[in-house]
Amino acid sequence: MGKFENTTGSNWASQDAASLHINGNVEYPTREEFYTNYPFYKYWNSDCNDHLLVPEGINIYIHIPFCIQICDYCFYMKELIRSKDQVDEYVDCLCKEMKMASEHFSLGRRKVNSIYIGGGTPSVLTEQQFKKLSECLHKYHYLTADTEFAFEAEPGTFSKSKLEWYKESGVNRISMGVQSFDDEVIRQSSRKHTAVQAIHSIDILREAGGFELNIDLLSGLAGETTDSWDRSVDTAIEQGTDMLTIYKMKTYANTNFFKKGVRGKEIELPGQMEEVSLMKRAMDKVFAAGYDLWSTFAFTRNGCKSRYIEHTWRGQDMIAYGASSFGKLASFNYQNFNNIHLYVQKVKMDVMPVYRTYAMSYKDMIVKELLLCAVRLFSYTKKEFIDKFGFDYFKLIPDVMSELVYKGYITDATDELVLTKQGVLYGDFVSKVIASSVKEVFAGDAIGFVY
Ligand SMILES: C[S@@+](CC[C@H](N)C(=O)[O-])C[C@H]1O[C@@H](n2cnc3c(N)ncnc32)[C@H](O)[C@@H]1O
Ligand code: SF4
Repeated sequence: MGKFENTTGSNWASQDAASLHINGNVEYPTREEFYTNYPFYKYWNSDCNDHLLVPEGINIYIHIPFCIQICDYCFYMKELIRSKDQVDEYVDCLCKEMKMASEHFSLGRRKVNSIYIGGGTPSVLTEQQFKKLSECLHKYHYLTADTEFAFEAEPGTFSKSKLEWYKESGVNRISMGVQSFDDEVIRQSSRKHTAVQAIHSIDILREAGGFELNIDLLSGLAGETTDSWDRSVDTAIEQGTDMLTIYKMKTYANTNFFKKGVRGKEIELPGQMEEVSLMKRAMDKVFAAGYDLWSTFAFTRNGCKSRYIEHTWRGQDMIAYGASSFGKLASFNYQNFNNIHLYVQKVKMDVMPVYRTYAMSYKDMIVKELLLCAVRLFSYTKKEFIDKFGFDYFKLIPDVMSELVYKGYITDATDELVLTKQGVLYGDFVSKVIASSVKEVFAGDAIGFVY
């Protein structure tokens, strides 16, 4: 049989025999179709011209993996600061990485929407180290007066003069890790400051002016009682910061709390229901004090928000600098070497320190949007999702959405996803339910437009 002969033996030249069904209609083959473009030109307009012509904004994350202590709950990549030389060498590598990346990916013309210097403890940088880093940021990236420039600080690691350099360099937002205002809880986490020092640090920040201020608390720490937690939350509220973030402490396997309280029995950590009850109490207090919900774990006053979180959760590109940092460029997620020595070695050899990547498919992007953004952010409409992905996920999983309403996790709003208080408390669980259900539908290929 010749290469092109019909294997069924039917007469393929016959129109009837060769007809196919499209959306339930019989269609006869023609040789008239000749596709050169999709969608057809009649759907194109000038609405997105600016979006194409103005280079898309970026966000920058810089990891400073040095700390003055190792806290028992902390899962981030960090080590005890050993010497000034060690940090000098690391900052030199950050600057070199910035130069390489901005040239390699042509980042210089892309406006920087936000910068987040996190750690570890960025506030341990000396004046010289910080200035060098900030000069490189300005040299290799396009910062504007609009750029949000956020910096993580720890009580007791900064002074009035450090705050002046931050301000001069454009830092306009400080996120301070307090975790607890109870000295015994702080001590049991192996942190070095006291509650009084934390309050003093917040006072210094407030007096310096010019910064949006966020403080982090952690629920579920060792030694926490209802009383100590209530006092901590009350004290946090009294500080009157623009934003208050309350993370649920997760006992990761790389933490001392895991060794001491999960694998071992040296310490007792609050159980799940105890932690839920602590968080409920905190939410009542925070709302009563006039804070609004901004995400499932951040509370805000006066419309203040983290633009870095907002942009990156909503999928804008995020350039990552430093050991273990992870970023996103177009459809690629990537992470740098998560070991300081290896990171430094690569950069010194003029090699981009990228350790691993993940090419996101369209399905992944949808699941990520649901998991990390739609449910978590409190201002996410159905329209935003439809504009991005072209379909309404409420309609894709109607039974799941109805069950979430029925069980009290979300309201019955039809144009956006609005979590109830219970939904906020179990925010990541709601994300998981929605994302997993959508994934299940995708797995069955019920929606064939995702290629
Ligand atoms: C990089 S850390 C710390 C910033 C700064 N070094 C400090 O200690 O104040 C940023 C935040 O992550 C949170 N965090 C650390 N370990 C956590 C864990 N196991 N679960 C949830 N949040 C955690 C803490 O609230 C912390 O303030
Ligand atoms: S919480 Fe902050 S200071 Fe403590 S180990 Fe983590 S990054 Fe370092």
